[in-house]
Amino acid sequence: MCGIMGYIGGRDALPILLDGLRRLEYRGYDSAGVAVYTGERLEIRKAAGKLRRLVEMVSAAPVQGTVGIGHTRWATHGNPTDYNAHPHSDCRGHIVVIHNGIIENFLELKEELHRRGHRFQSETDTEVLAHLIEEAYEGDLERAVRHAISRARGAYAIVVLSSHEPDKLIACRQISPLIVGLGDGETWLASDIPALLPYTRKVMVIEDGEMATITRDGVRITTLNGEVVEKTPIHVTWDAEMAERGGYPHFMLKEIHEQPRALQETLMGRLDHAGQISLDGVSLPDIFVERLEKVWLVACGTAYHAGLVGKWLLEHLSRIPAEADLASELRYRDPLVFGTNLTVAISQSGETADTLAAVREMKARGSRILAITNVVGSTLTREADDVLYIRAGPEIAVASTKAYLTMLVALTMLAIELGRRRKAIPDERLNALLYGLRELPGKAQDVLRREPEVLELAKRYAHCQDIFFIGRGLDYAVAMEGSLKLKEISYVHSEALAAGELKHGTLALVTDGVPVFALCTQRHVREKMLSNIQEVKARGAMVVAVAYEDDREVASLVDHVIPIPPVDDLLSPILAIIPLQLFAYYVARERGHDIDQPRNLAKSVTVE
Ligand code: AGP
Repeated sequence: MCGIMGYIGGRDALPILLDGLRRLEYRGYDSAGVAVYTGERLEIRKAAGKLRRLVEMVSAAPVQGTVGIGHTRWATHGNPTDYNAHPHSDCRGHIVVIHNGIIENFLELKEELHRRGHRFQSETDTEVLAHLIEEAYEGDLERAVRHAISRARGAYAIVVLSSHEPDKLIACRQISPLIVGLGDGETWLASDIPALLPYTRKVMVIEDGEMATITRDGVRITTLNGEVVEKTPIHVTWDAEMAERGGYPHFMLKEIHEQPRALQETLMGRLDHAGQISLDGVSLPDIFVERLEKVWLVACGTAYHAGLVGKWLLEHLSRIPAEADLASELRYRDPLVFGTNLTVAISQSGETADTLAAVREMKARGSRILAITNVVGSTLTREADDVLYIRAGPEIAVASTKAYLTMLVALTMLAIELGRRRKAIPDERLNALLYGLRELPGKAQDVLRREPEVLELAKRYAHCQDIFFIGRGLDYAVAMEGSLKLKEISYVHSEALAAGELKHGTLALVTDGVPVFALCTQRHVREKMLSNIQEVKARGAMVVAVAYEDDREVASLVDHVIPIPPVDDLLSPILAIIPLQLFAYYVARERGHDIDQPRNLAKSVTVE
């Protein structure tokens, strides 16, 4: 939930730390801070509020030095105030700590430390670590950190800097992500790859239970017991430009516009003309596919909405029973895993705590794990047996857009391939679907051309209190995602409903002038949708339909229609969501919100 940055080298640390925090701000933005070793002592600057408050503070009172740490916070323990912002220090100001995660037993540790005379400056769980290290320090920082960590329970990525040994940073990881960037005479640490891209593409992922000692010459990784761990660096293919706004006012708008390109990347090299799909990173043995009895799709938020589409596709194309589950529910509901099962864990970041916990639960119950993710080297990739990358490129905006689209494409390819291998798809249908997939980038570009119309709609409805989304079958899953997008950035109350459910309760809320978005792309239930549209129209709703451009009847029934090019109904979610993303974006803009950093939310939810 928080962003961590560290630097040690020959350059001035402060601008590097601030630049890294800017790139990590999507992970948390309610306060920020830095600590730099000046050559004599540790200097801390920290401030509640967005990163710009810290930037103002350091411009008024700069700190200079070639080693430092920085943090951008999303509060869990203690309000977002100046004193709760990280870094936190020990009693004497010789040790500073930044932390992402939660120290679950911090209250008991705090009481114990209090009794021994330690004085606390904040209400955070993190501060206990600085005091534990202070107590354990006897001339060996690594050892003291090891001792402190052995006392802490919970999830953490921490980085420690001390004026006792200012030629190193010490980092430890348990659950929360941490990446080392390797350079020539300089080394970086960050919670996520985009923060490192301007400096290096040679990275090393610190794994659970590991400690990294970072110096100007590189990194030494050990287990918490002190055994050396040998690792080979990974070369990241993303470049720095991909993680910049590139002239767009917000990352979200940039990422919406990148979707045709992202779709192309996801498909590249994976479809061959003989009707075969090669899913690099996925090697499900024939016998496994033959015996497969059930697929579980497990994820949170937008990725869960992709899972709902995946369930439909898998059942339809491969005829294997599939279930989409919220990771935060599945892990506590004692799932029945018998026989040959496959869990498809979907996560843009690959770091969502509930998704990872659900994966571990399913693994323990004997399921094979296939990860669908965007981030190379993320925790999920290491927990999984097979990994299918969505290749969306860095997604920075909190509201996920291009990752959702590319997850849908990955799931479609998986469903087709399983269907082909189980001989559940006739050749003609298979070829039509492959052809449809190839056409998607161009068609997504056509949908984006509707942006001016969507902007007009957003202006018209931006003041509304409630907006409903309805659909049937796959359109219902799209309605859920459209509604979530709107809520998370525009703060307009919204609900998504299976259109057939309206009359069982929610229709009572549809009154004069209430906007209802009706998704009408599923031809087999089109007649039923038309009746549902009549139902809400009869109660005074203003209906906006998303429908195929050749569907004149829908257009004649509703107040506005956003046409999308005709595609196979199984592929329509990939196009139908685009106008809803744009609508959410422009409503949020009309309402003057901070679109890339919506209130109370963070990009990766690495706490449970
Ligand atoms: C998407 O707009 C949301 N911000 C959120 O629901 C997100 O999809 C969810 O937290 C899961 O993230 P993940 O894909 O990184 O696991």
